Amino acid sequence: MDITFLLNGETVALRDANPTTTVLDWLRETRGLKGTKEGCNEGDCGACTVMTRQPSGPWAAQNACILLLPHLHGRELRTVEGVSAPDGTLHPVQAAMVAHHGSQCGFCTPGFITSMAAAHANGAQDFNDKLAGNLCRCTGYAPIVRAAEAAAKEPVPAHLAAPASLTAAPQPEIPESADALATWYAAHPQATLIAGATDVGLWVTKKLADLSEVAFLHRVTDLDYVEITQSEVRIGATTPIATLRAAIAPYHPSLAELLRRYGSEQVRQAATLGGNIANGSPIGDSPPALIALGATLHLRHGEARRSLPLEDFFIDYGKQDRAPGEFVEAVSFPRQPDRLRCYKLSKRFDQDISAVCGCFCITVEDATVTAARIAFGGMAGTPKRAAATEAALTGQPWEEATVTRAMAALATDFQPLTDMRASAAYRMEAAQNMLHRYFLESQGIATSVLEVQP
Ligand SMILES: Cc1cc2nc3c(=O)[nH]c(=O)nc-3n(C[C@H](O)[C@H](O)[C@H](O)COP(=O)(O)OP(=O)(O)OC[C@H]3O[C@@H](n4cnc5c(N)ncnc54)[C@H](O)[C@@H]3O)c2cc1C
Ligand code: FES
Ligand code: FES
Repeated sequence: MDITFLLNGETVALRDANPTTTVLDWLRETRGLKGTKEGCNEGDCGACTVMTRQPSGPWAAQNACILLLPHLHGRELRTVEGVSAPDGTLHPVQAAMVAHHGSQCGFCTPGFITSMAAAHANGAQDFNDKLAGNLCRCTGYAPIVRAAEAAAKEPVPAHLAAPASLTAAPQPEIPESADALATWYAAHPQATLIAGATDVGLWVTKKLADLSEVAFLHRVTDLDYVEITQSEVRIGATTPIATLRAAIAPYHPSLAELLRRYGSEQVRQAATLGGNIANGSPIGDSPPALIALGATLHLRHGEARRSLPLEDFFIDYGKQDRAPGEFVEAVSFPRQPDRLRCYKLSKRFDQDISAVCGCFCITVEDATVTAARIAFGGMAGTPKRAAATEAALTGQPWEEATVTRAMAALATDFQPLTDMRASAAYRMEAAQNMLHRYFLESQGIATSVLEVQP
């Protein structure tokens, strides 16, 4: 593929670039830019964080270890070497890290600086969230967060504020519309689609997969939208999780809170909703929430489109209802009063995959349950609805005794596995308790350890 982008302000044009070369390897091995570090090589530590943006768009922090060269086509890339001004003046976050003693061994520091510079450029204040994807083993986070807070008062330096102009010639494998993608994919049905590469990147770095034919979705901008009408919410497949989180917060805050704990800032900037569904993972966080909201999945093959209830897309572990050449175009769900509550249980609060993720939408009218939609991740080989639990609730009075019966019914819905994240018995008990938690919260009782005050 021919790839054109801006590296620290200078145009780079690569001819016949290997589409599965990671940006991290290219920076370090081809350009000698070794400020970008390799830690985990799987998106978990942030040592490799770089800044990218579409010309005139906002800056995003991204993990270079799972970002592939074609992701840069038409974008600006700033590494830690390009954060200070061209005359060498330190960026405000760099000066603040010095003043606040934010670095010791320094291995993590370039990744913190690029994350902080992206947050600074966007006027962010939520530094605990913005820096949760950067691990530091020696300094401790307090001085680093203090540095980010101090730098926030300073203006964005001109070299990062000014939008750049860049011409990047269209490439067939980097389609720029859903129509172009549909035509290309119908003609190359065995190809691998790559959206954010927060899964596919790991196939490359960890499984050393040889992906012979690939297409990149990051420039299919007409599928990057969250459209909210009187009757429906519709989300395009290439919408990053970070965009969805911000857009959905006023309507379903519990979903936005769930997405706050989805990976890290770097992962949320890259990962797309379409990828989170299409990969069919039993522990993906968005499917249980969307199923509880009554979502419909919209698929496209060439000019042919079909729609199905999202829960029906997940047939079995590793098996989805998607034909070769068919791709996820969008997801939609009805506008509704907000009854959704999502509970994510993971060993670590930030940047961790769910052991169990339970999502509940229960409608109570005149003290009786008139409708219930409940879905779980981590309880089966696919994201799955809790049909017996829903049936045990529907038509019954919304009271403790009903909830206790429904918790027992949940044991007939699922036979969870024991794995490194949780035992089967723990998963079942936790899932049952999530329903109880929903009930208690509906009675105005605080249940979160983050909310309960002694
Ligand atoms: C460090 C880290 C932390 C993570 N934390 C979480 C977490 O907390 N919660 C969570 O749910 N996930 C998490 N993940 C997993 C990952 O982010 C998701 O599965 C992600 O949503 C995949 O989306 P993507 O755009 O990156 O997909 P990609 O990796 O690009 O693709 C994934 C799969 O989907 C296919 N695909 C992509 N888009 C389409 C489309 N439109 N139509 C058809 N097929 C398509 C690809 O061909 C591939 O098979 C994490 C990953 C990492 C690396
Ligand atoms: S090297 Fe750890 S996130 Fe990239
Ligand atoms: S300063 Fe040593 S890991 Fe952060």
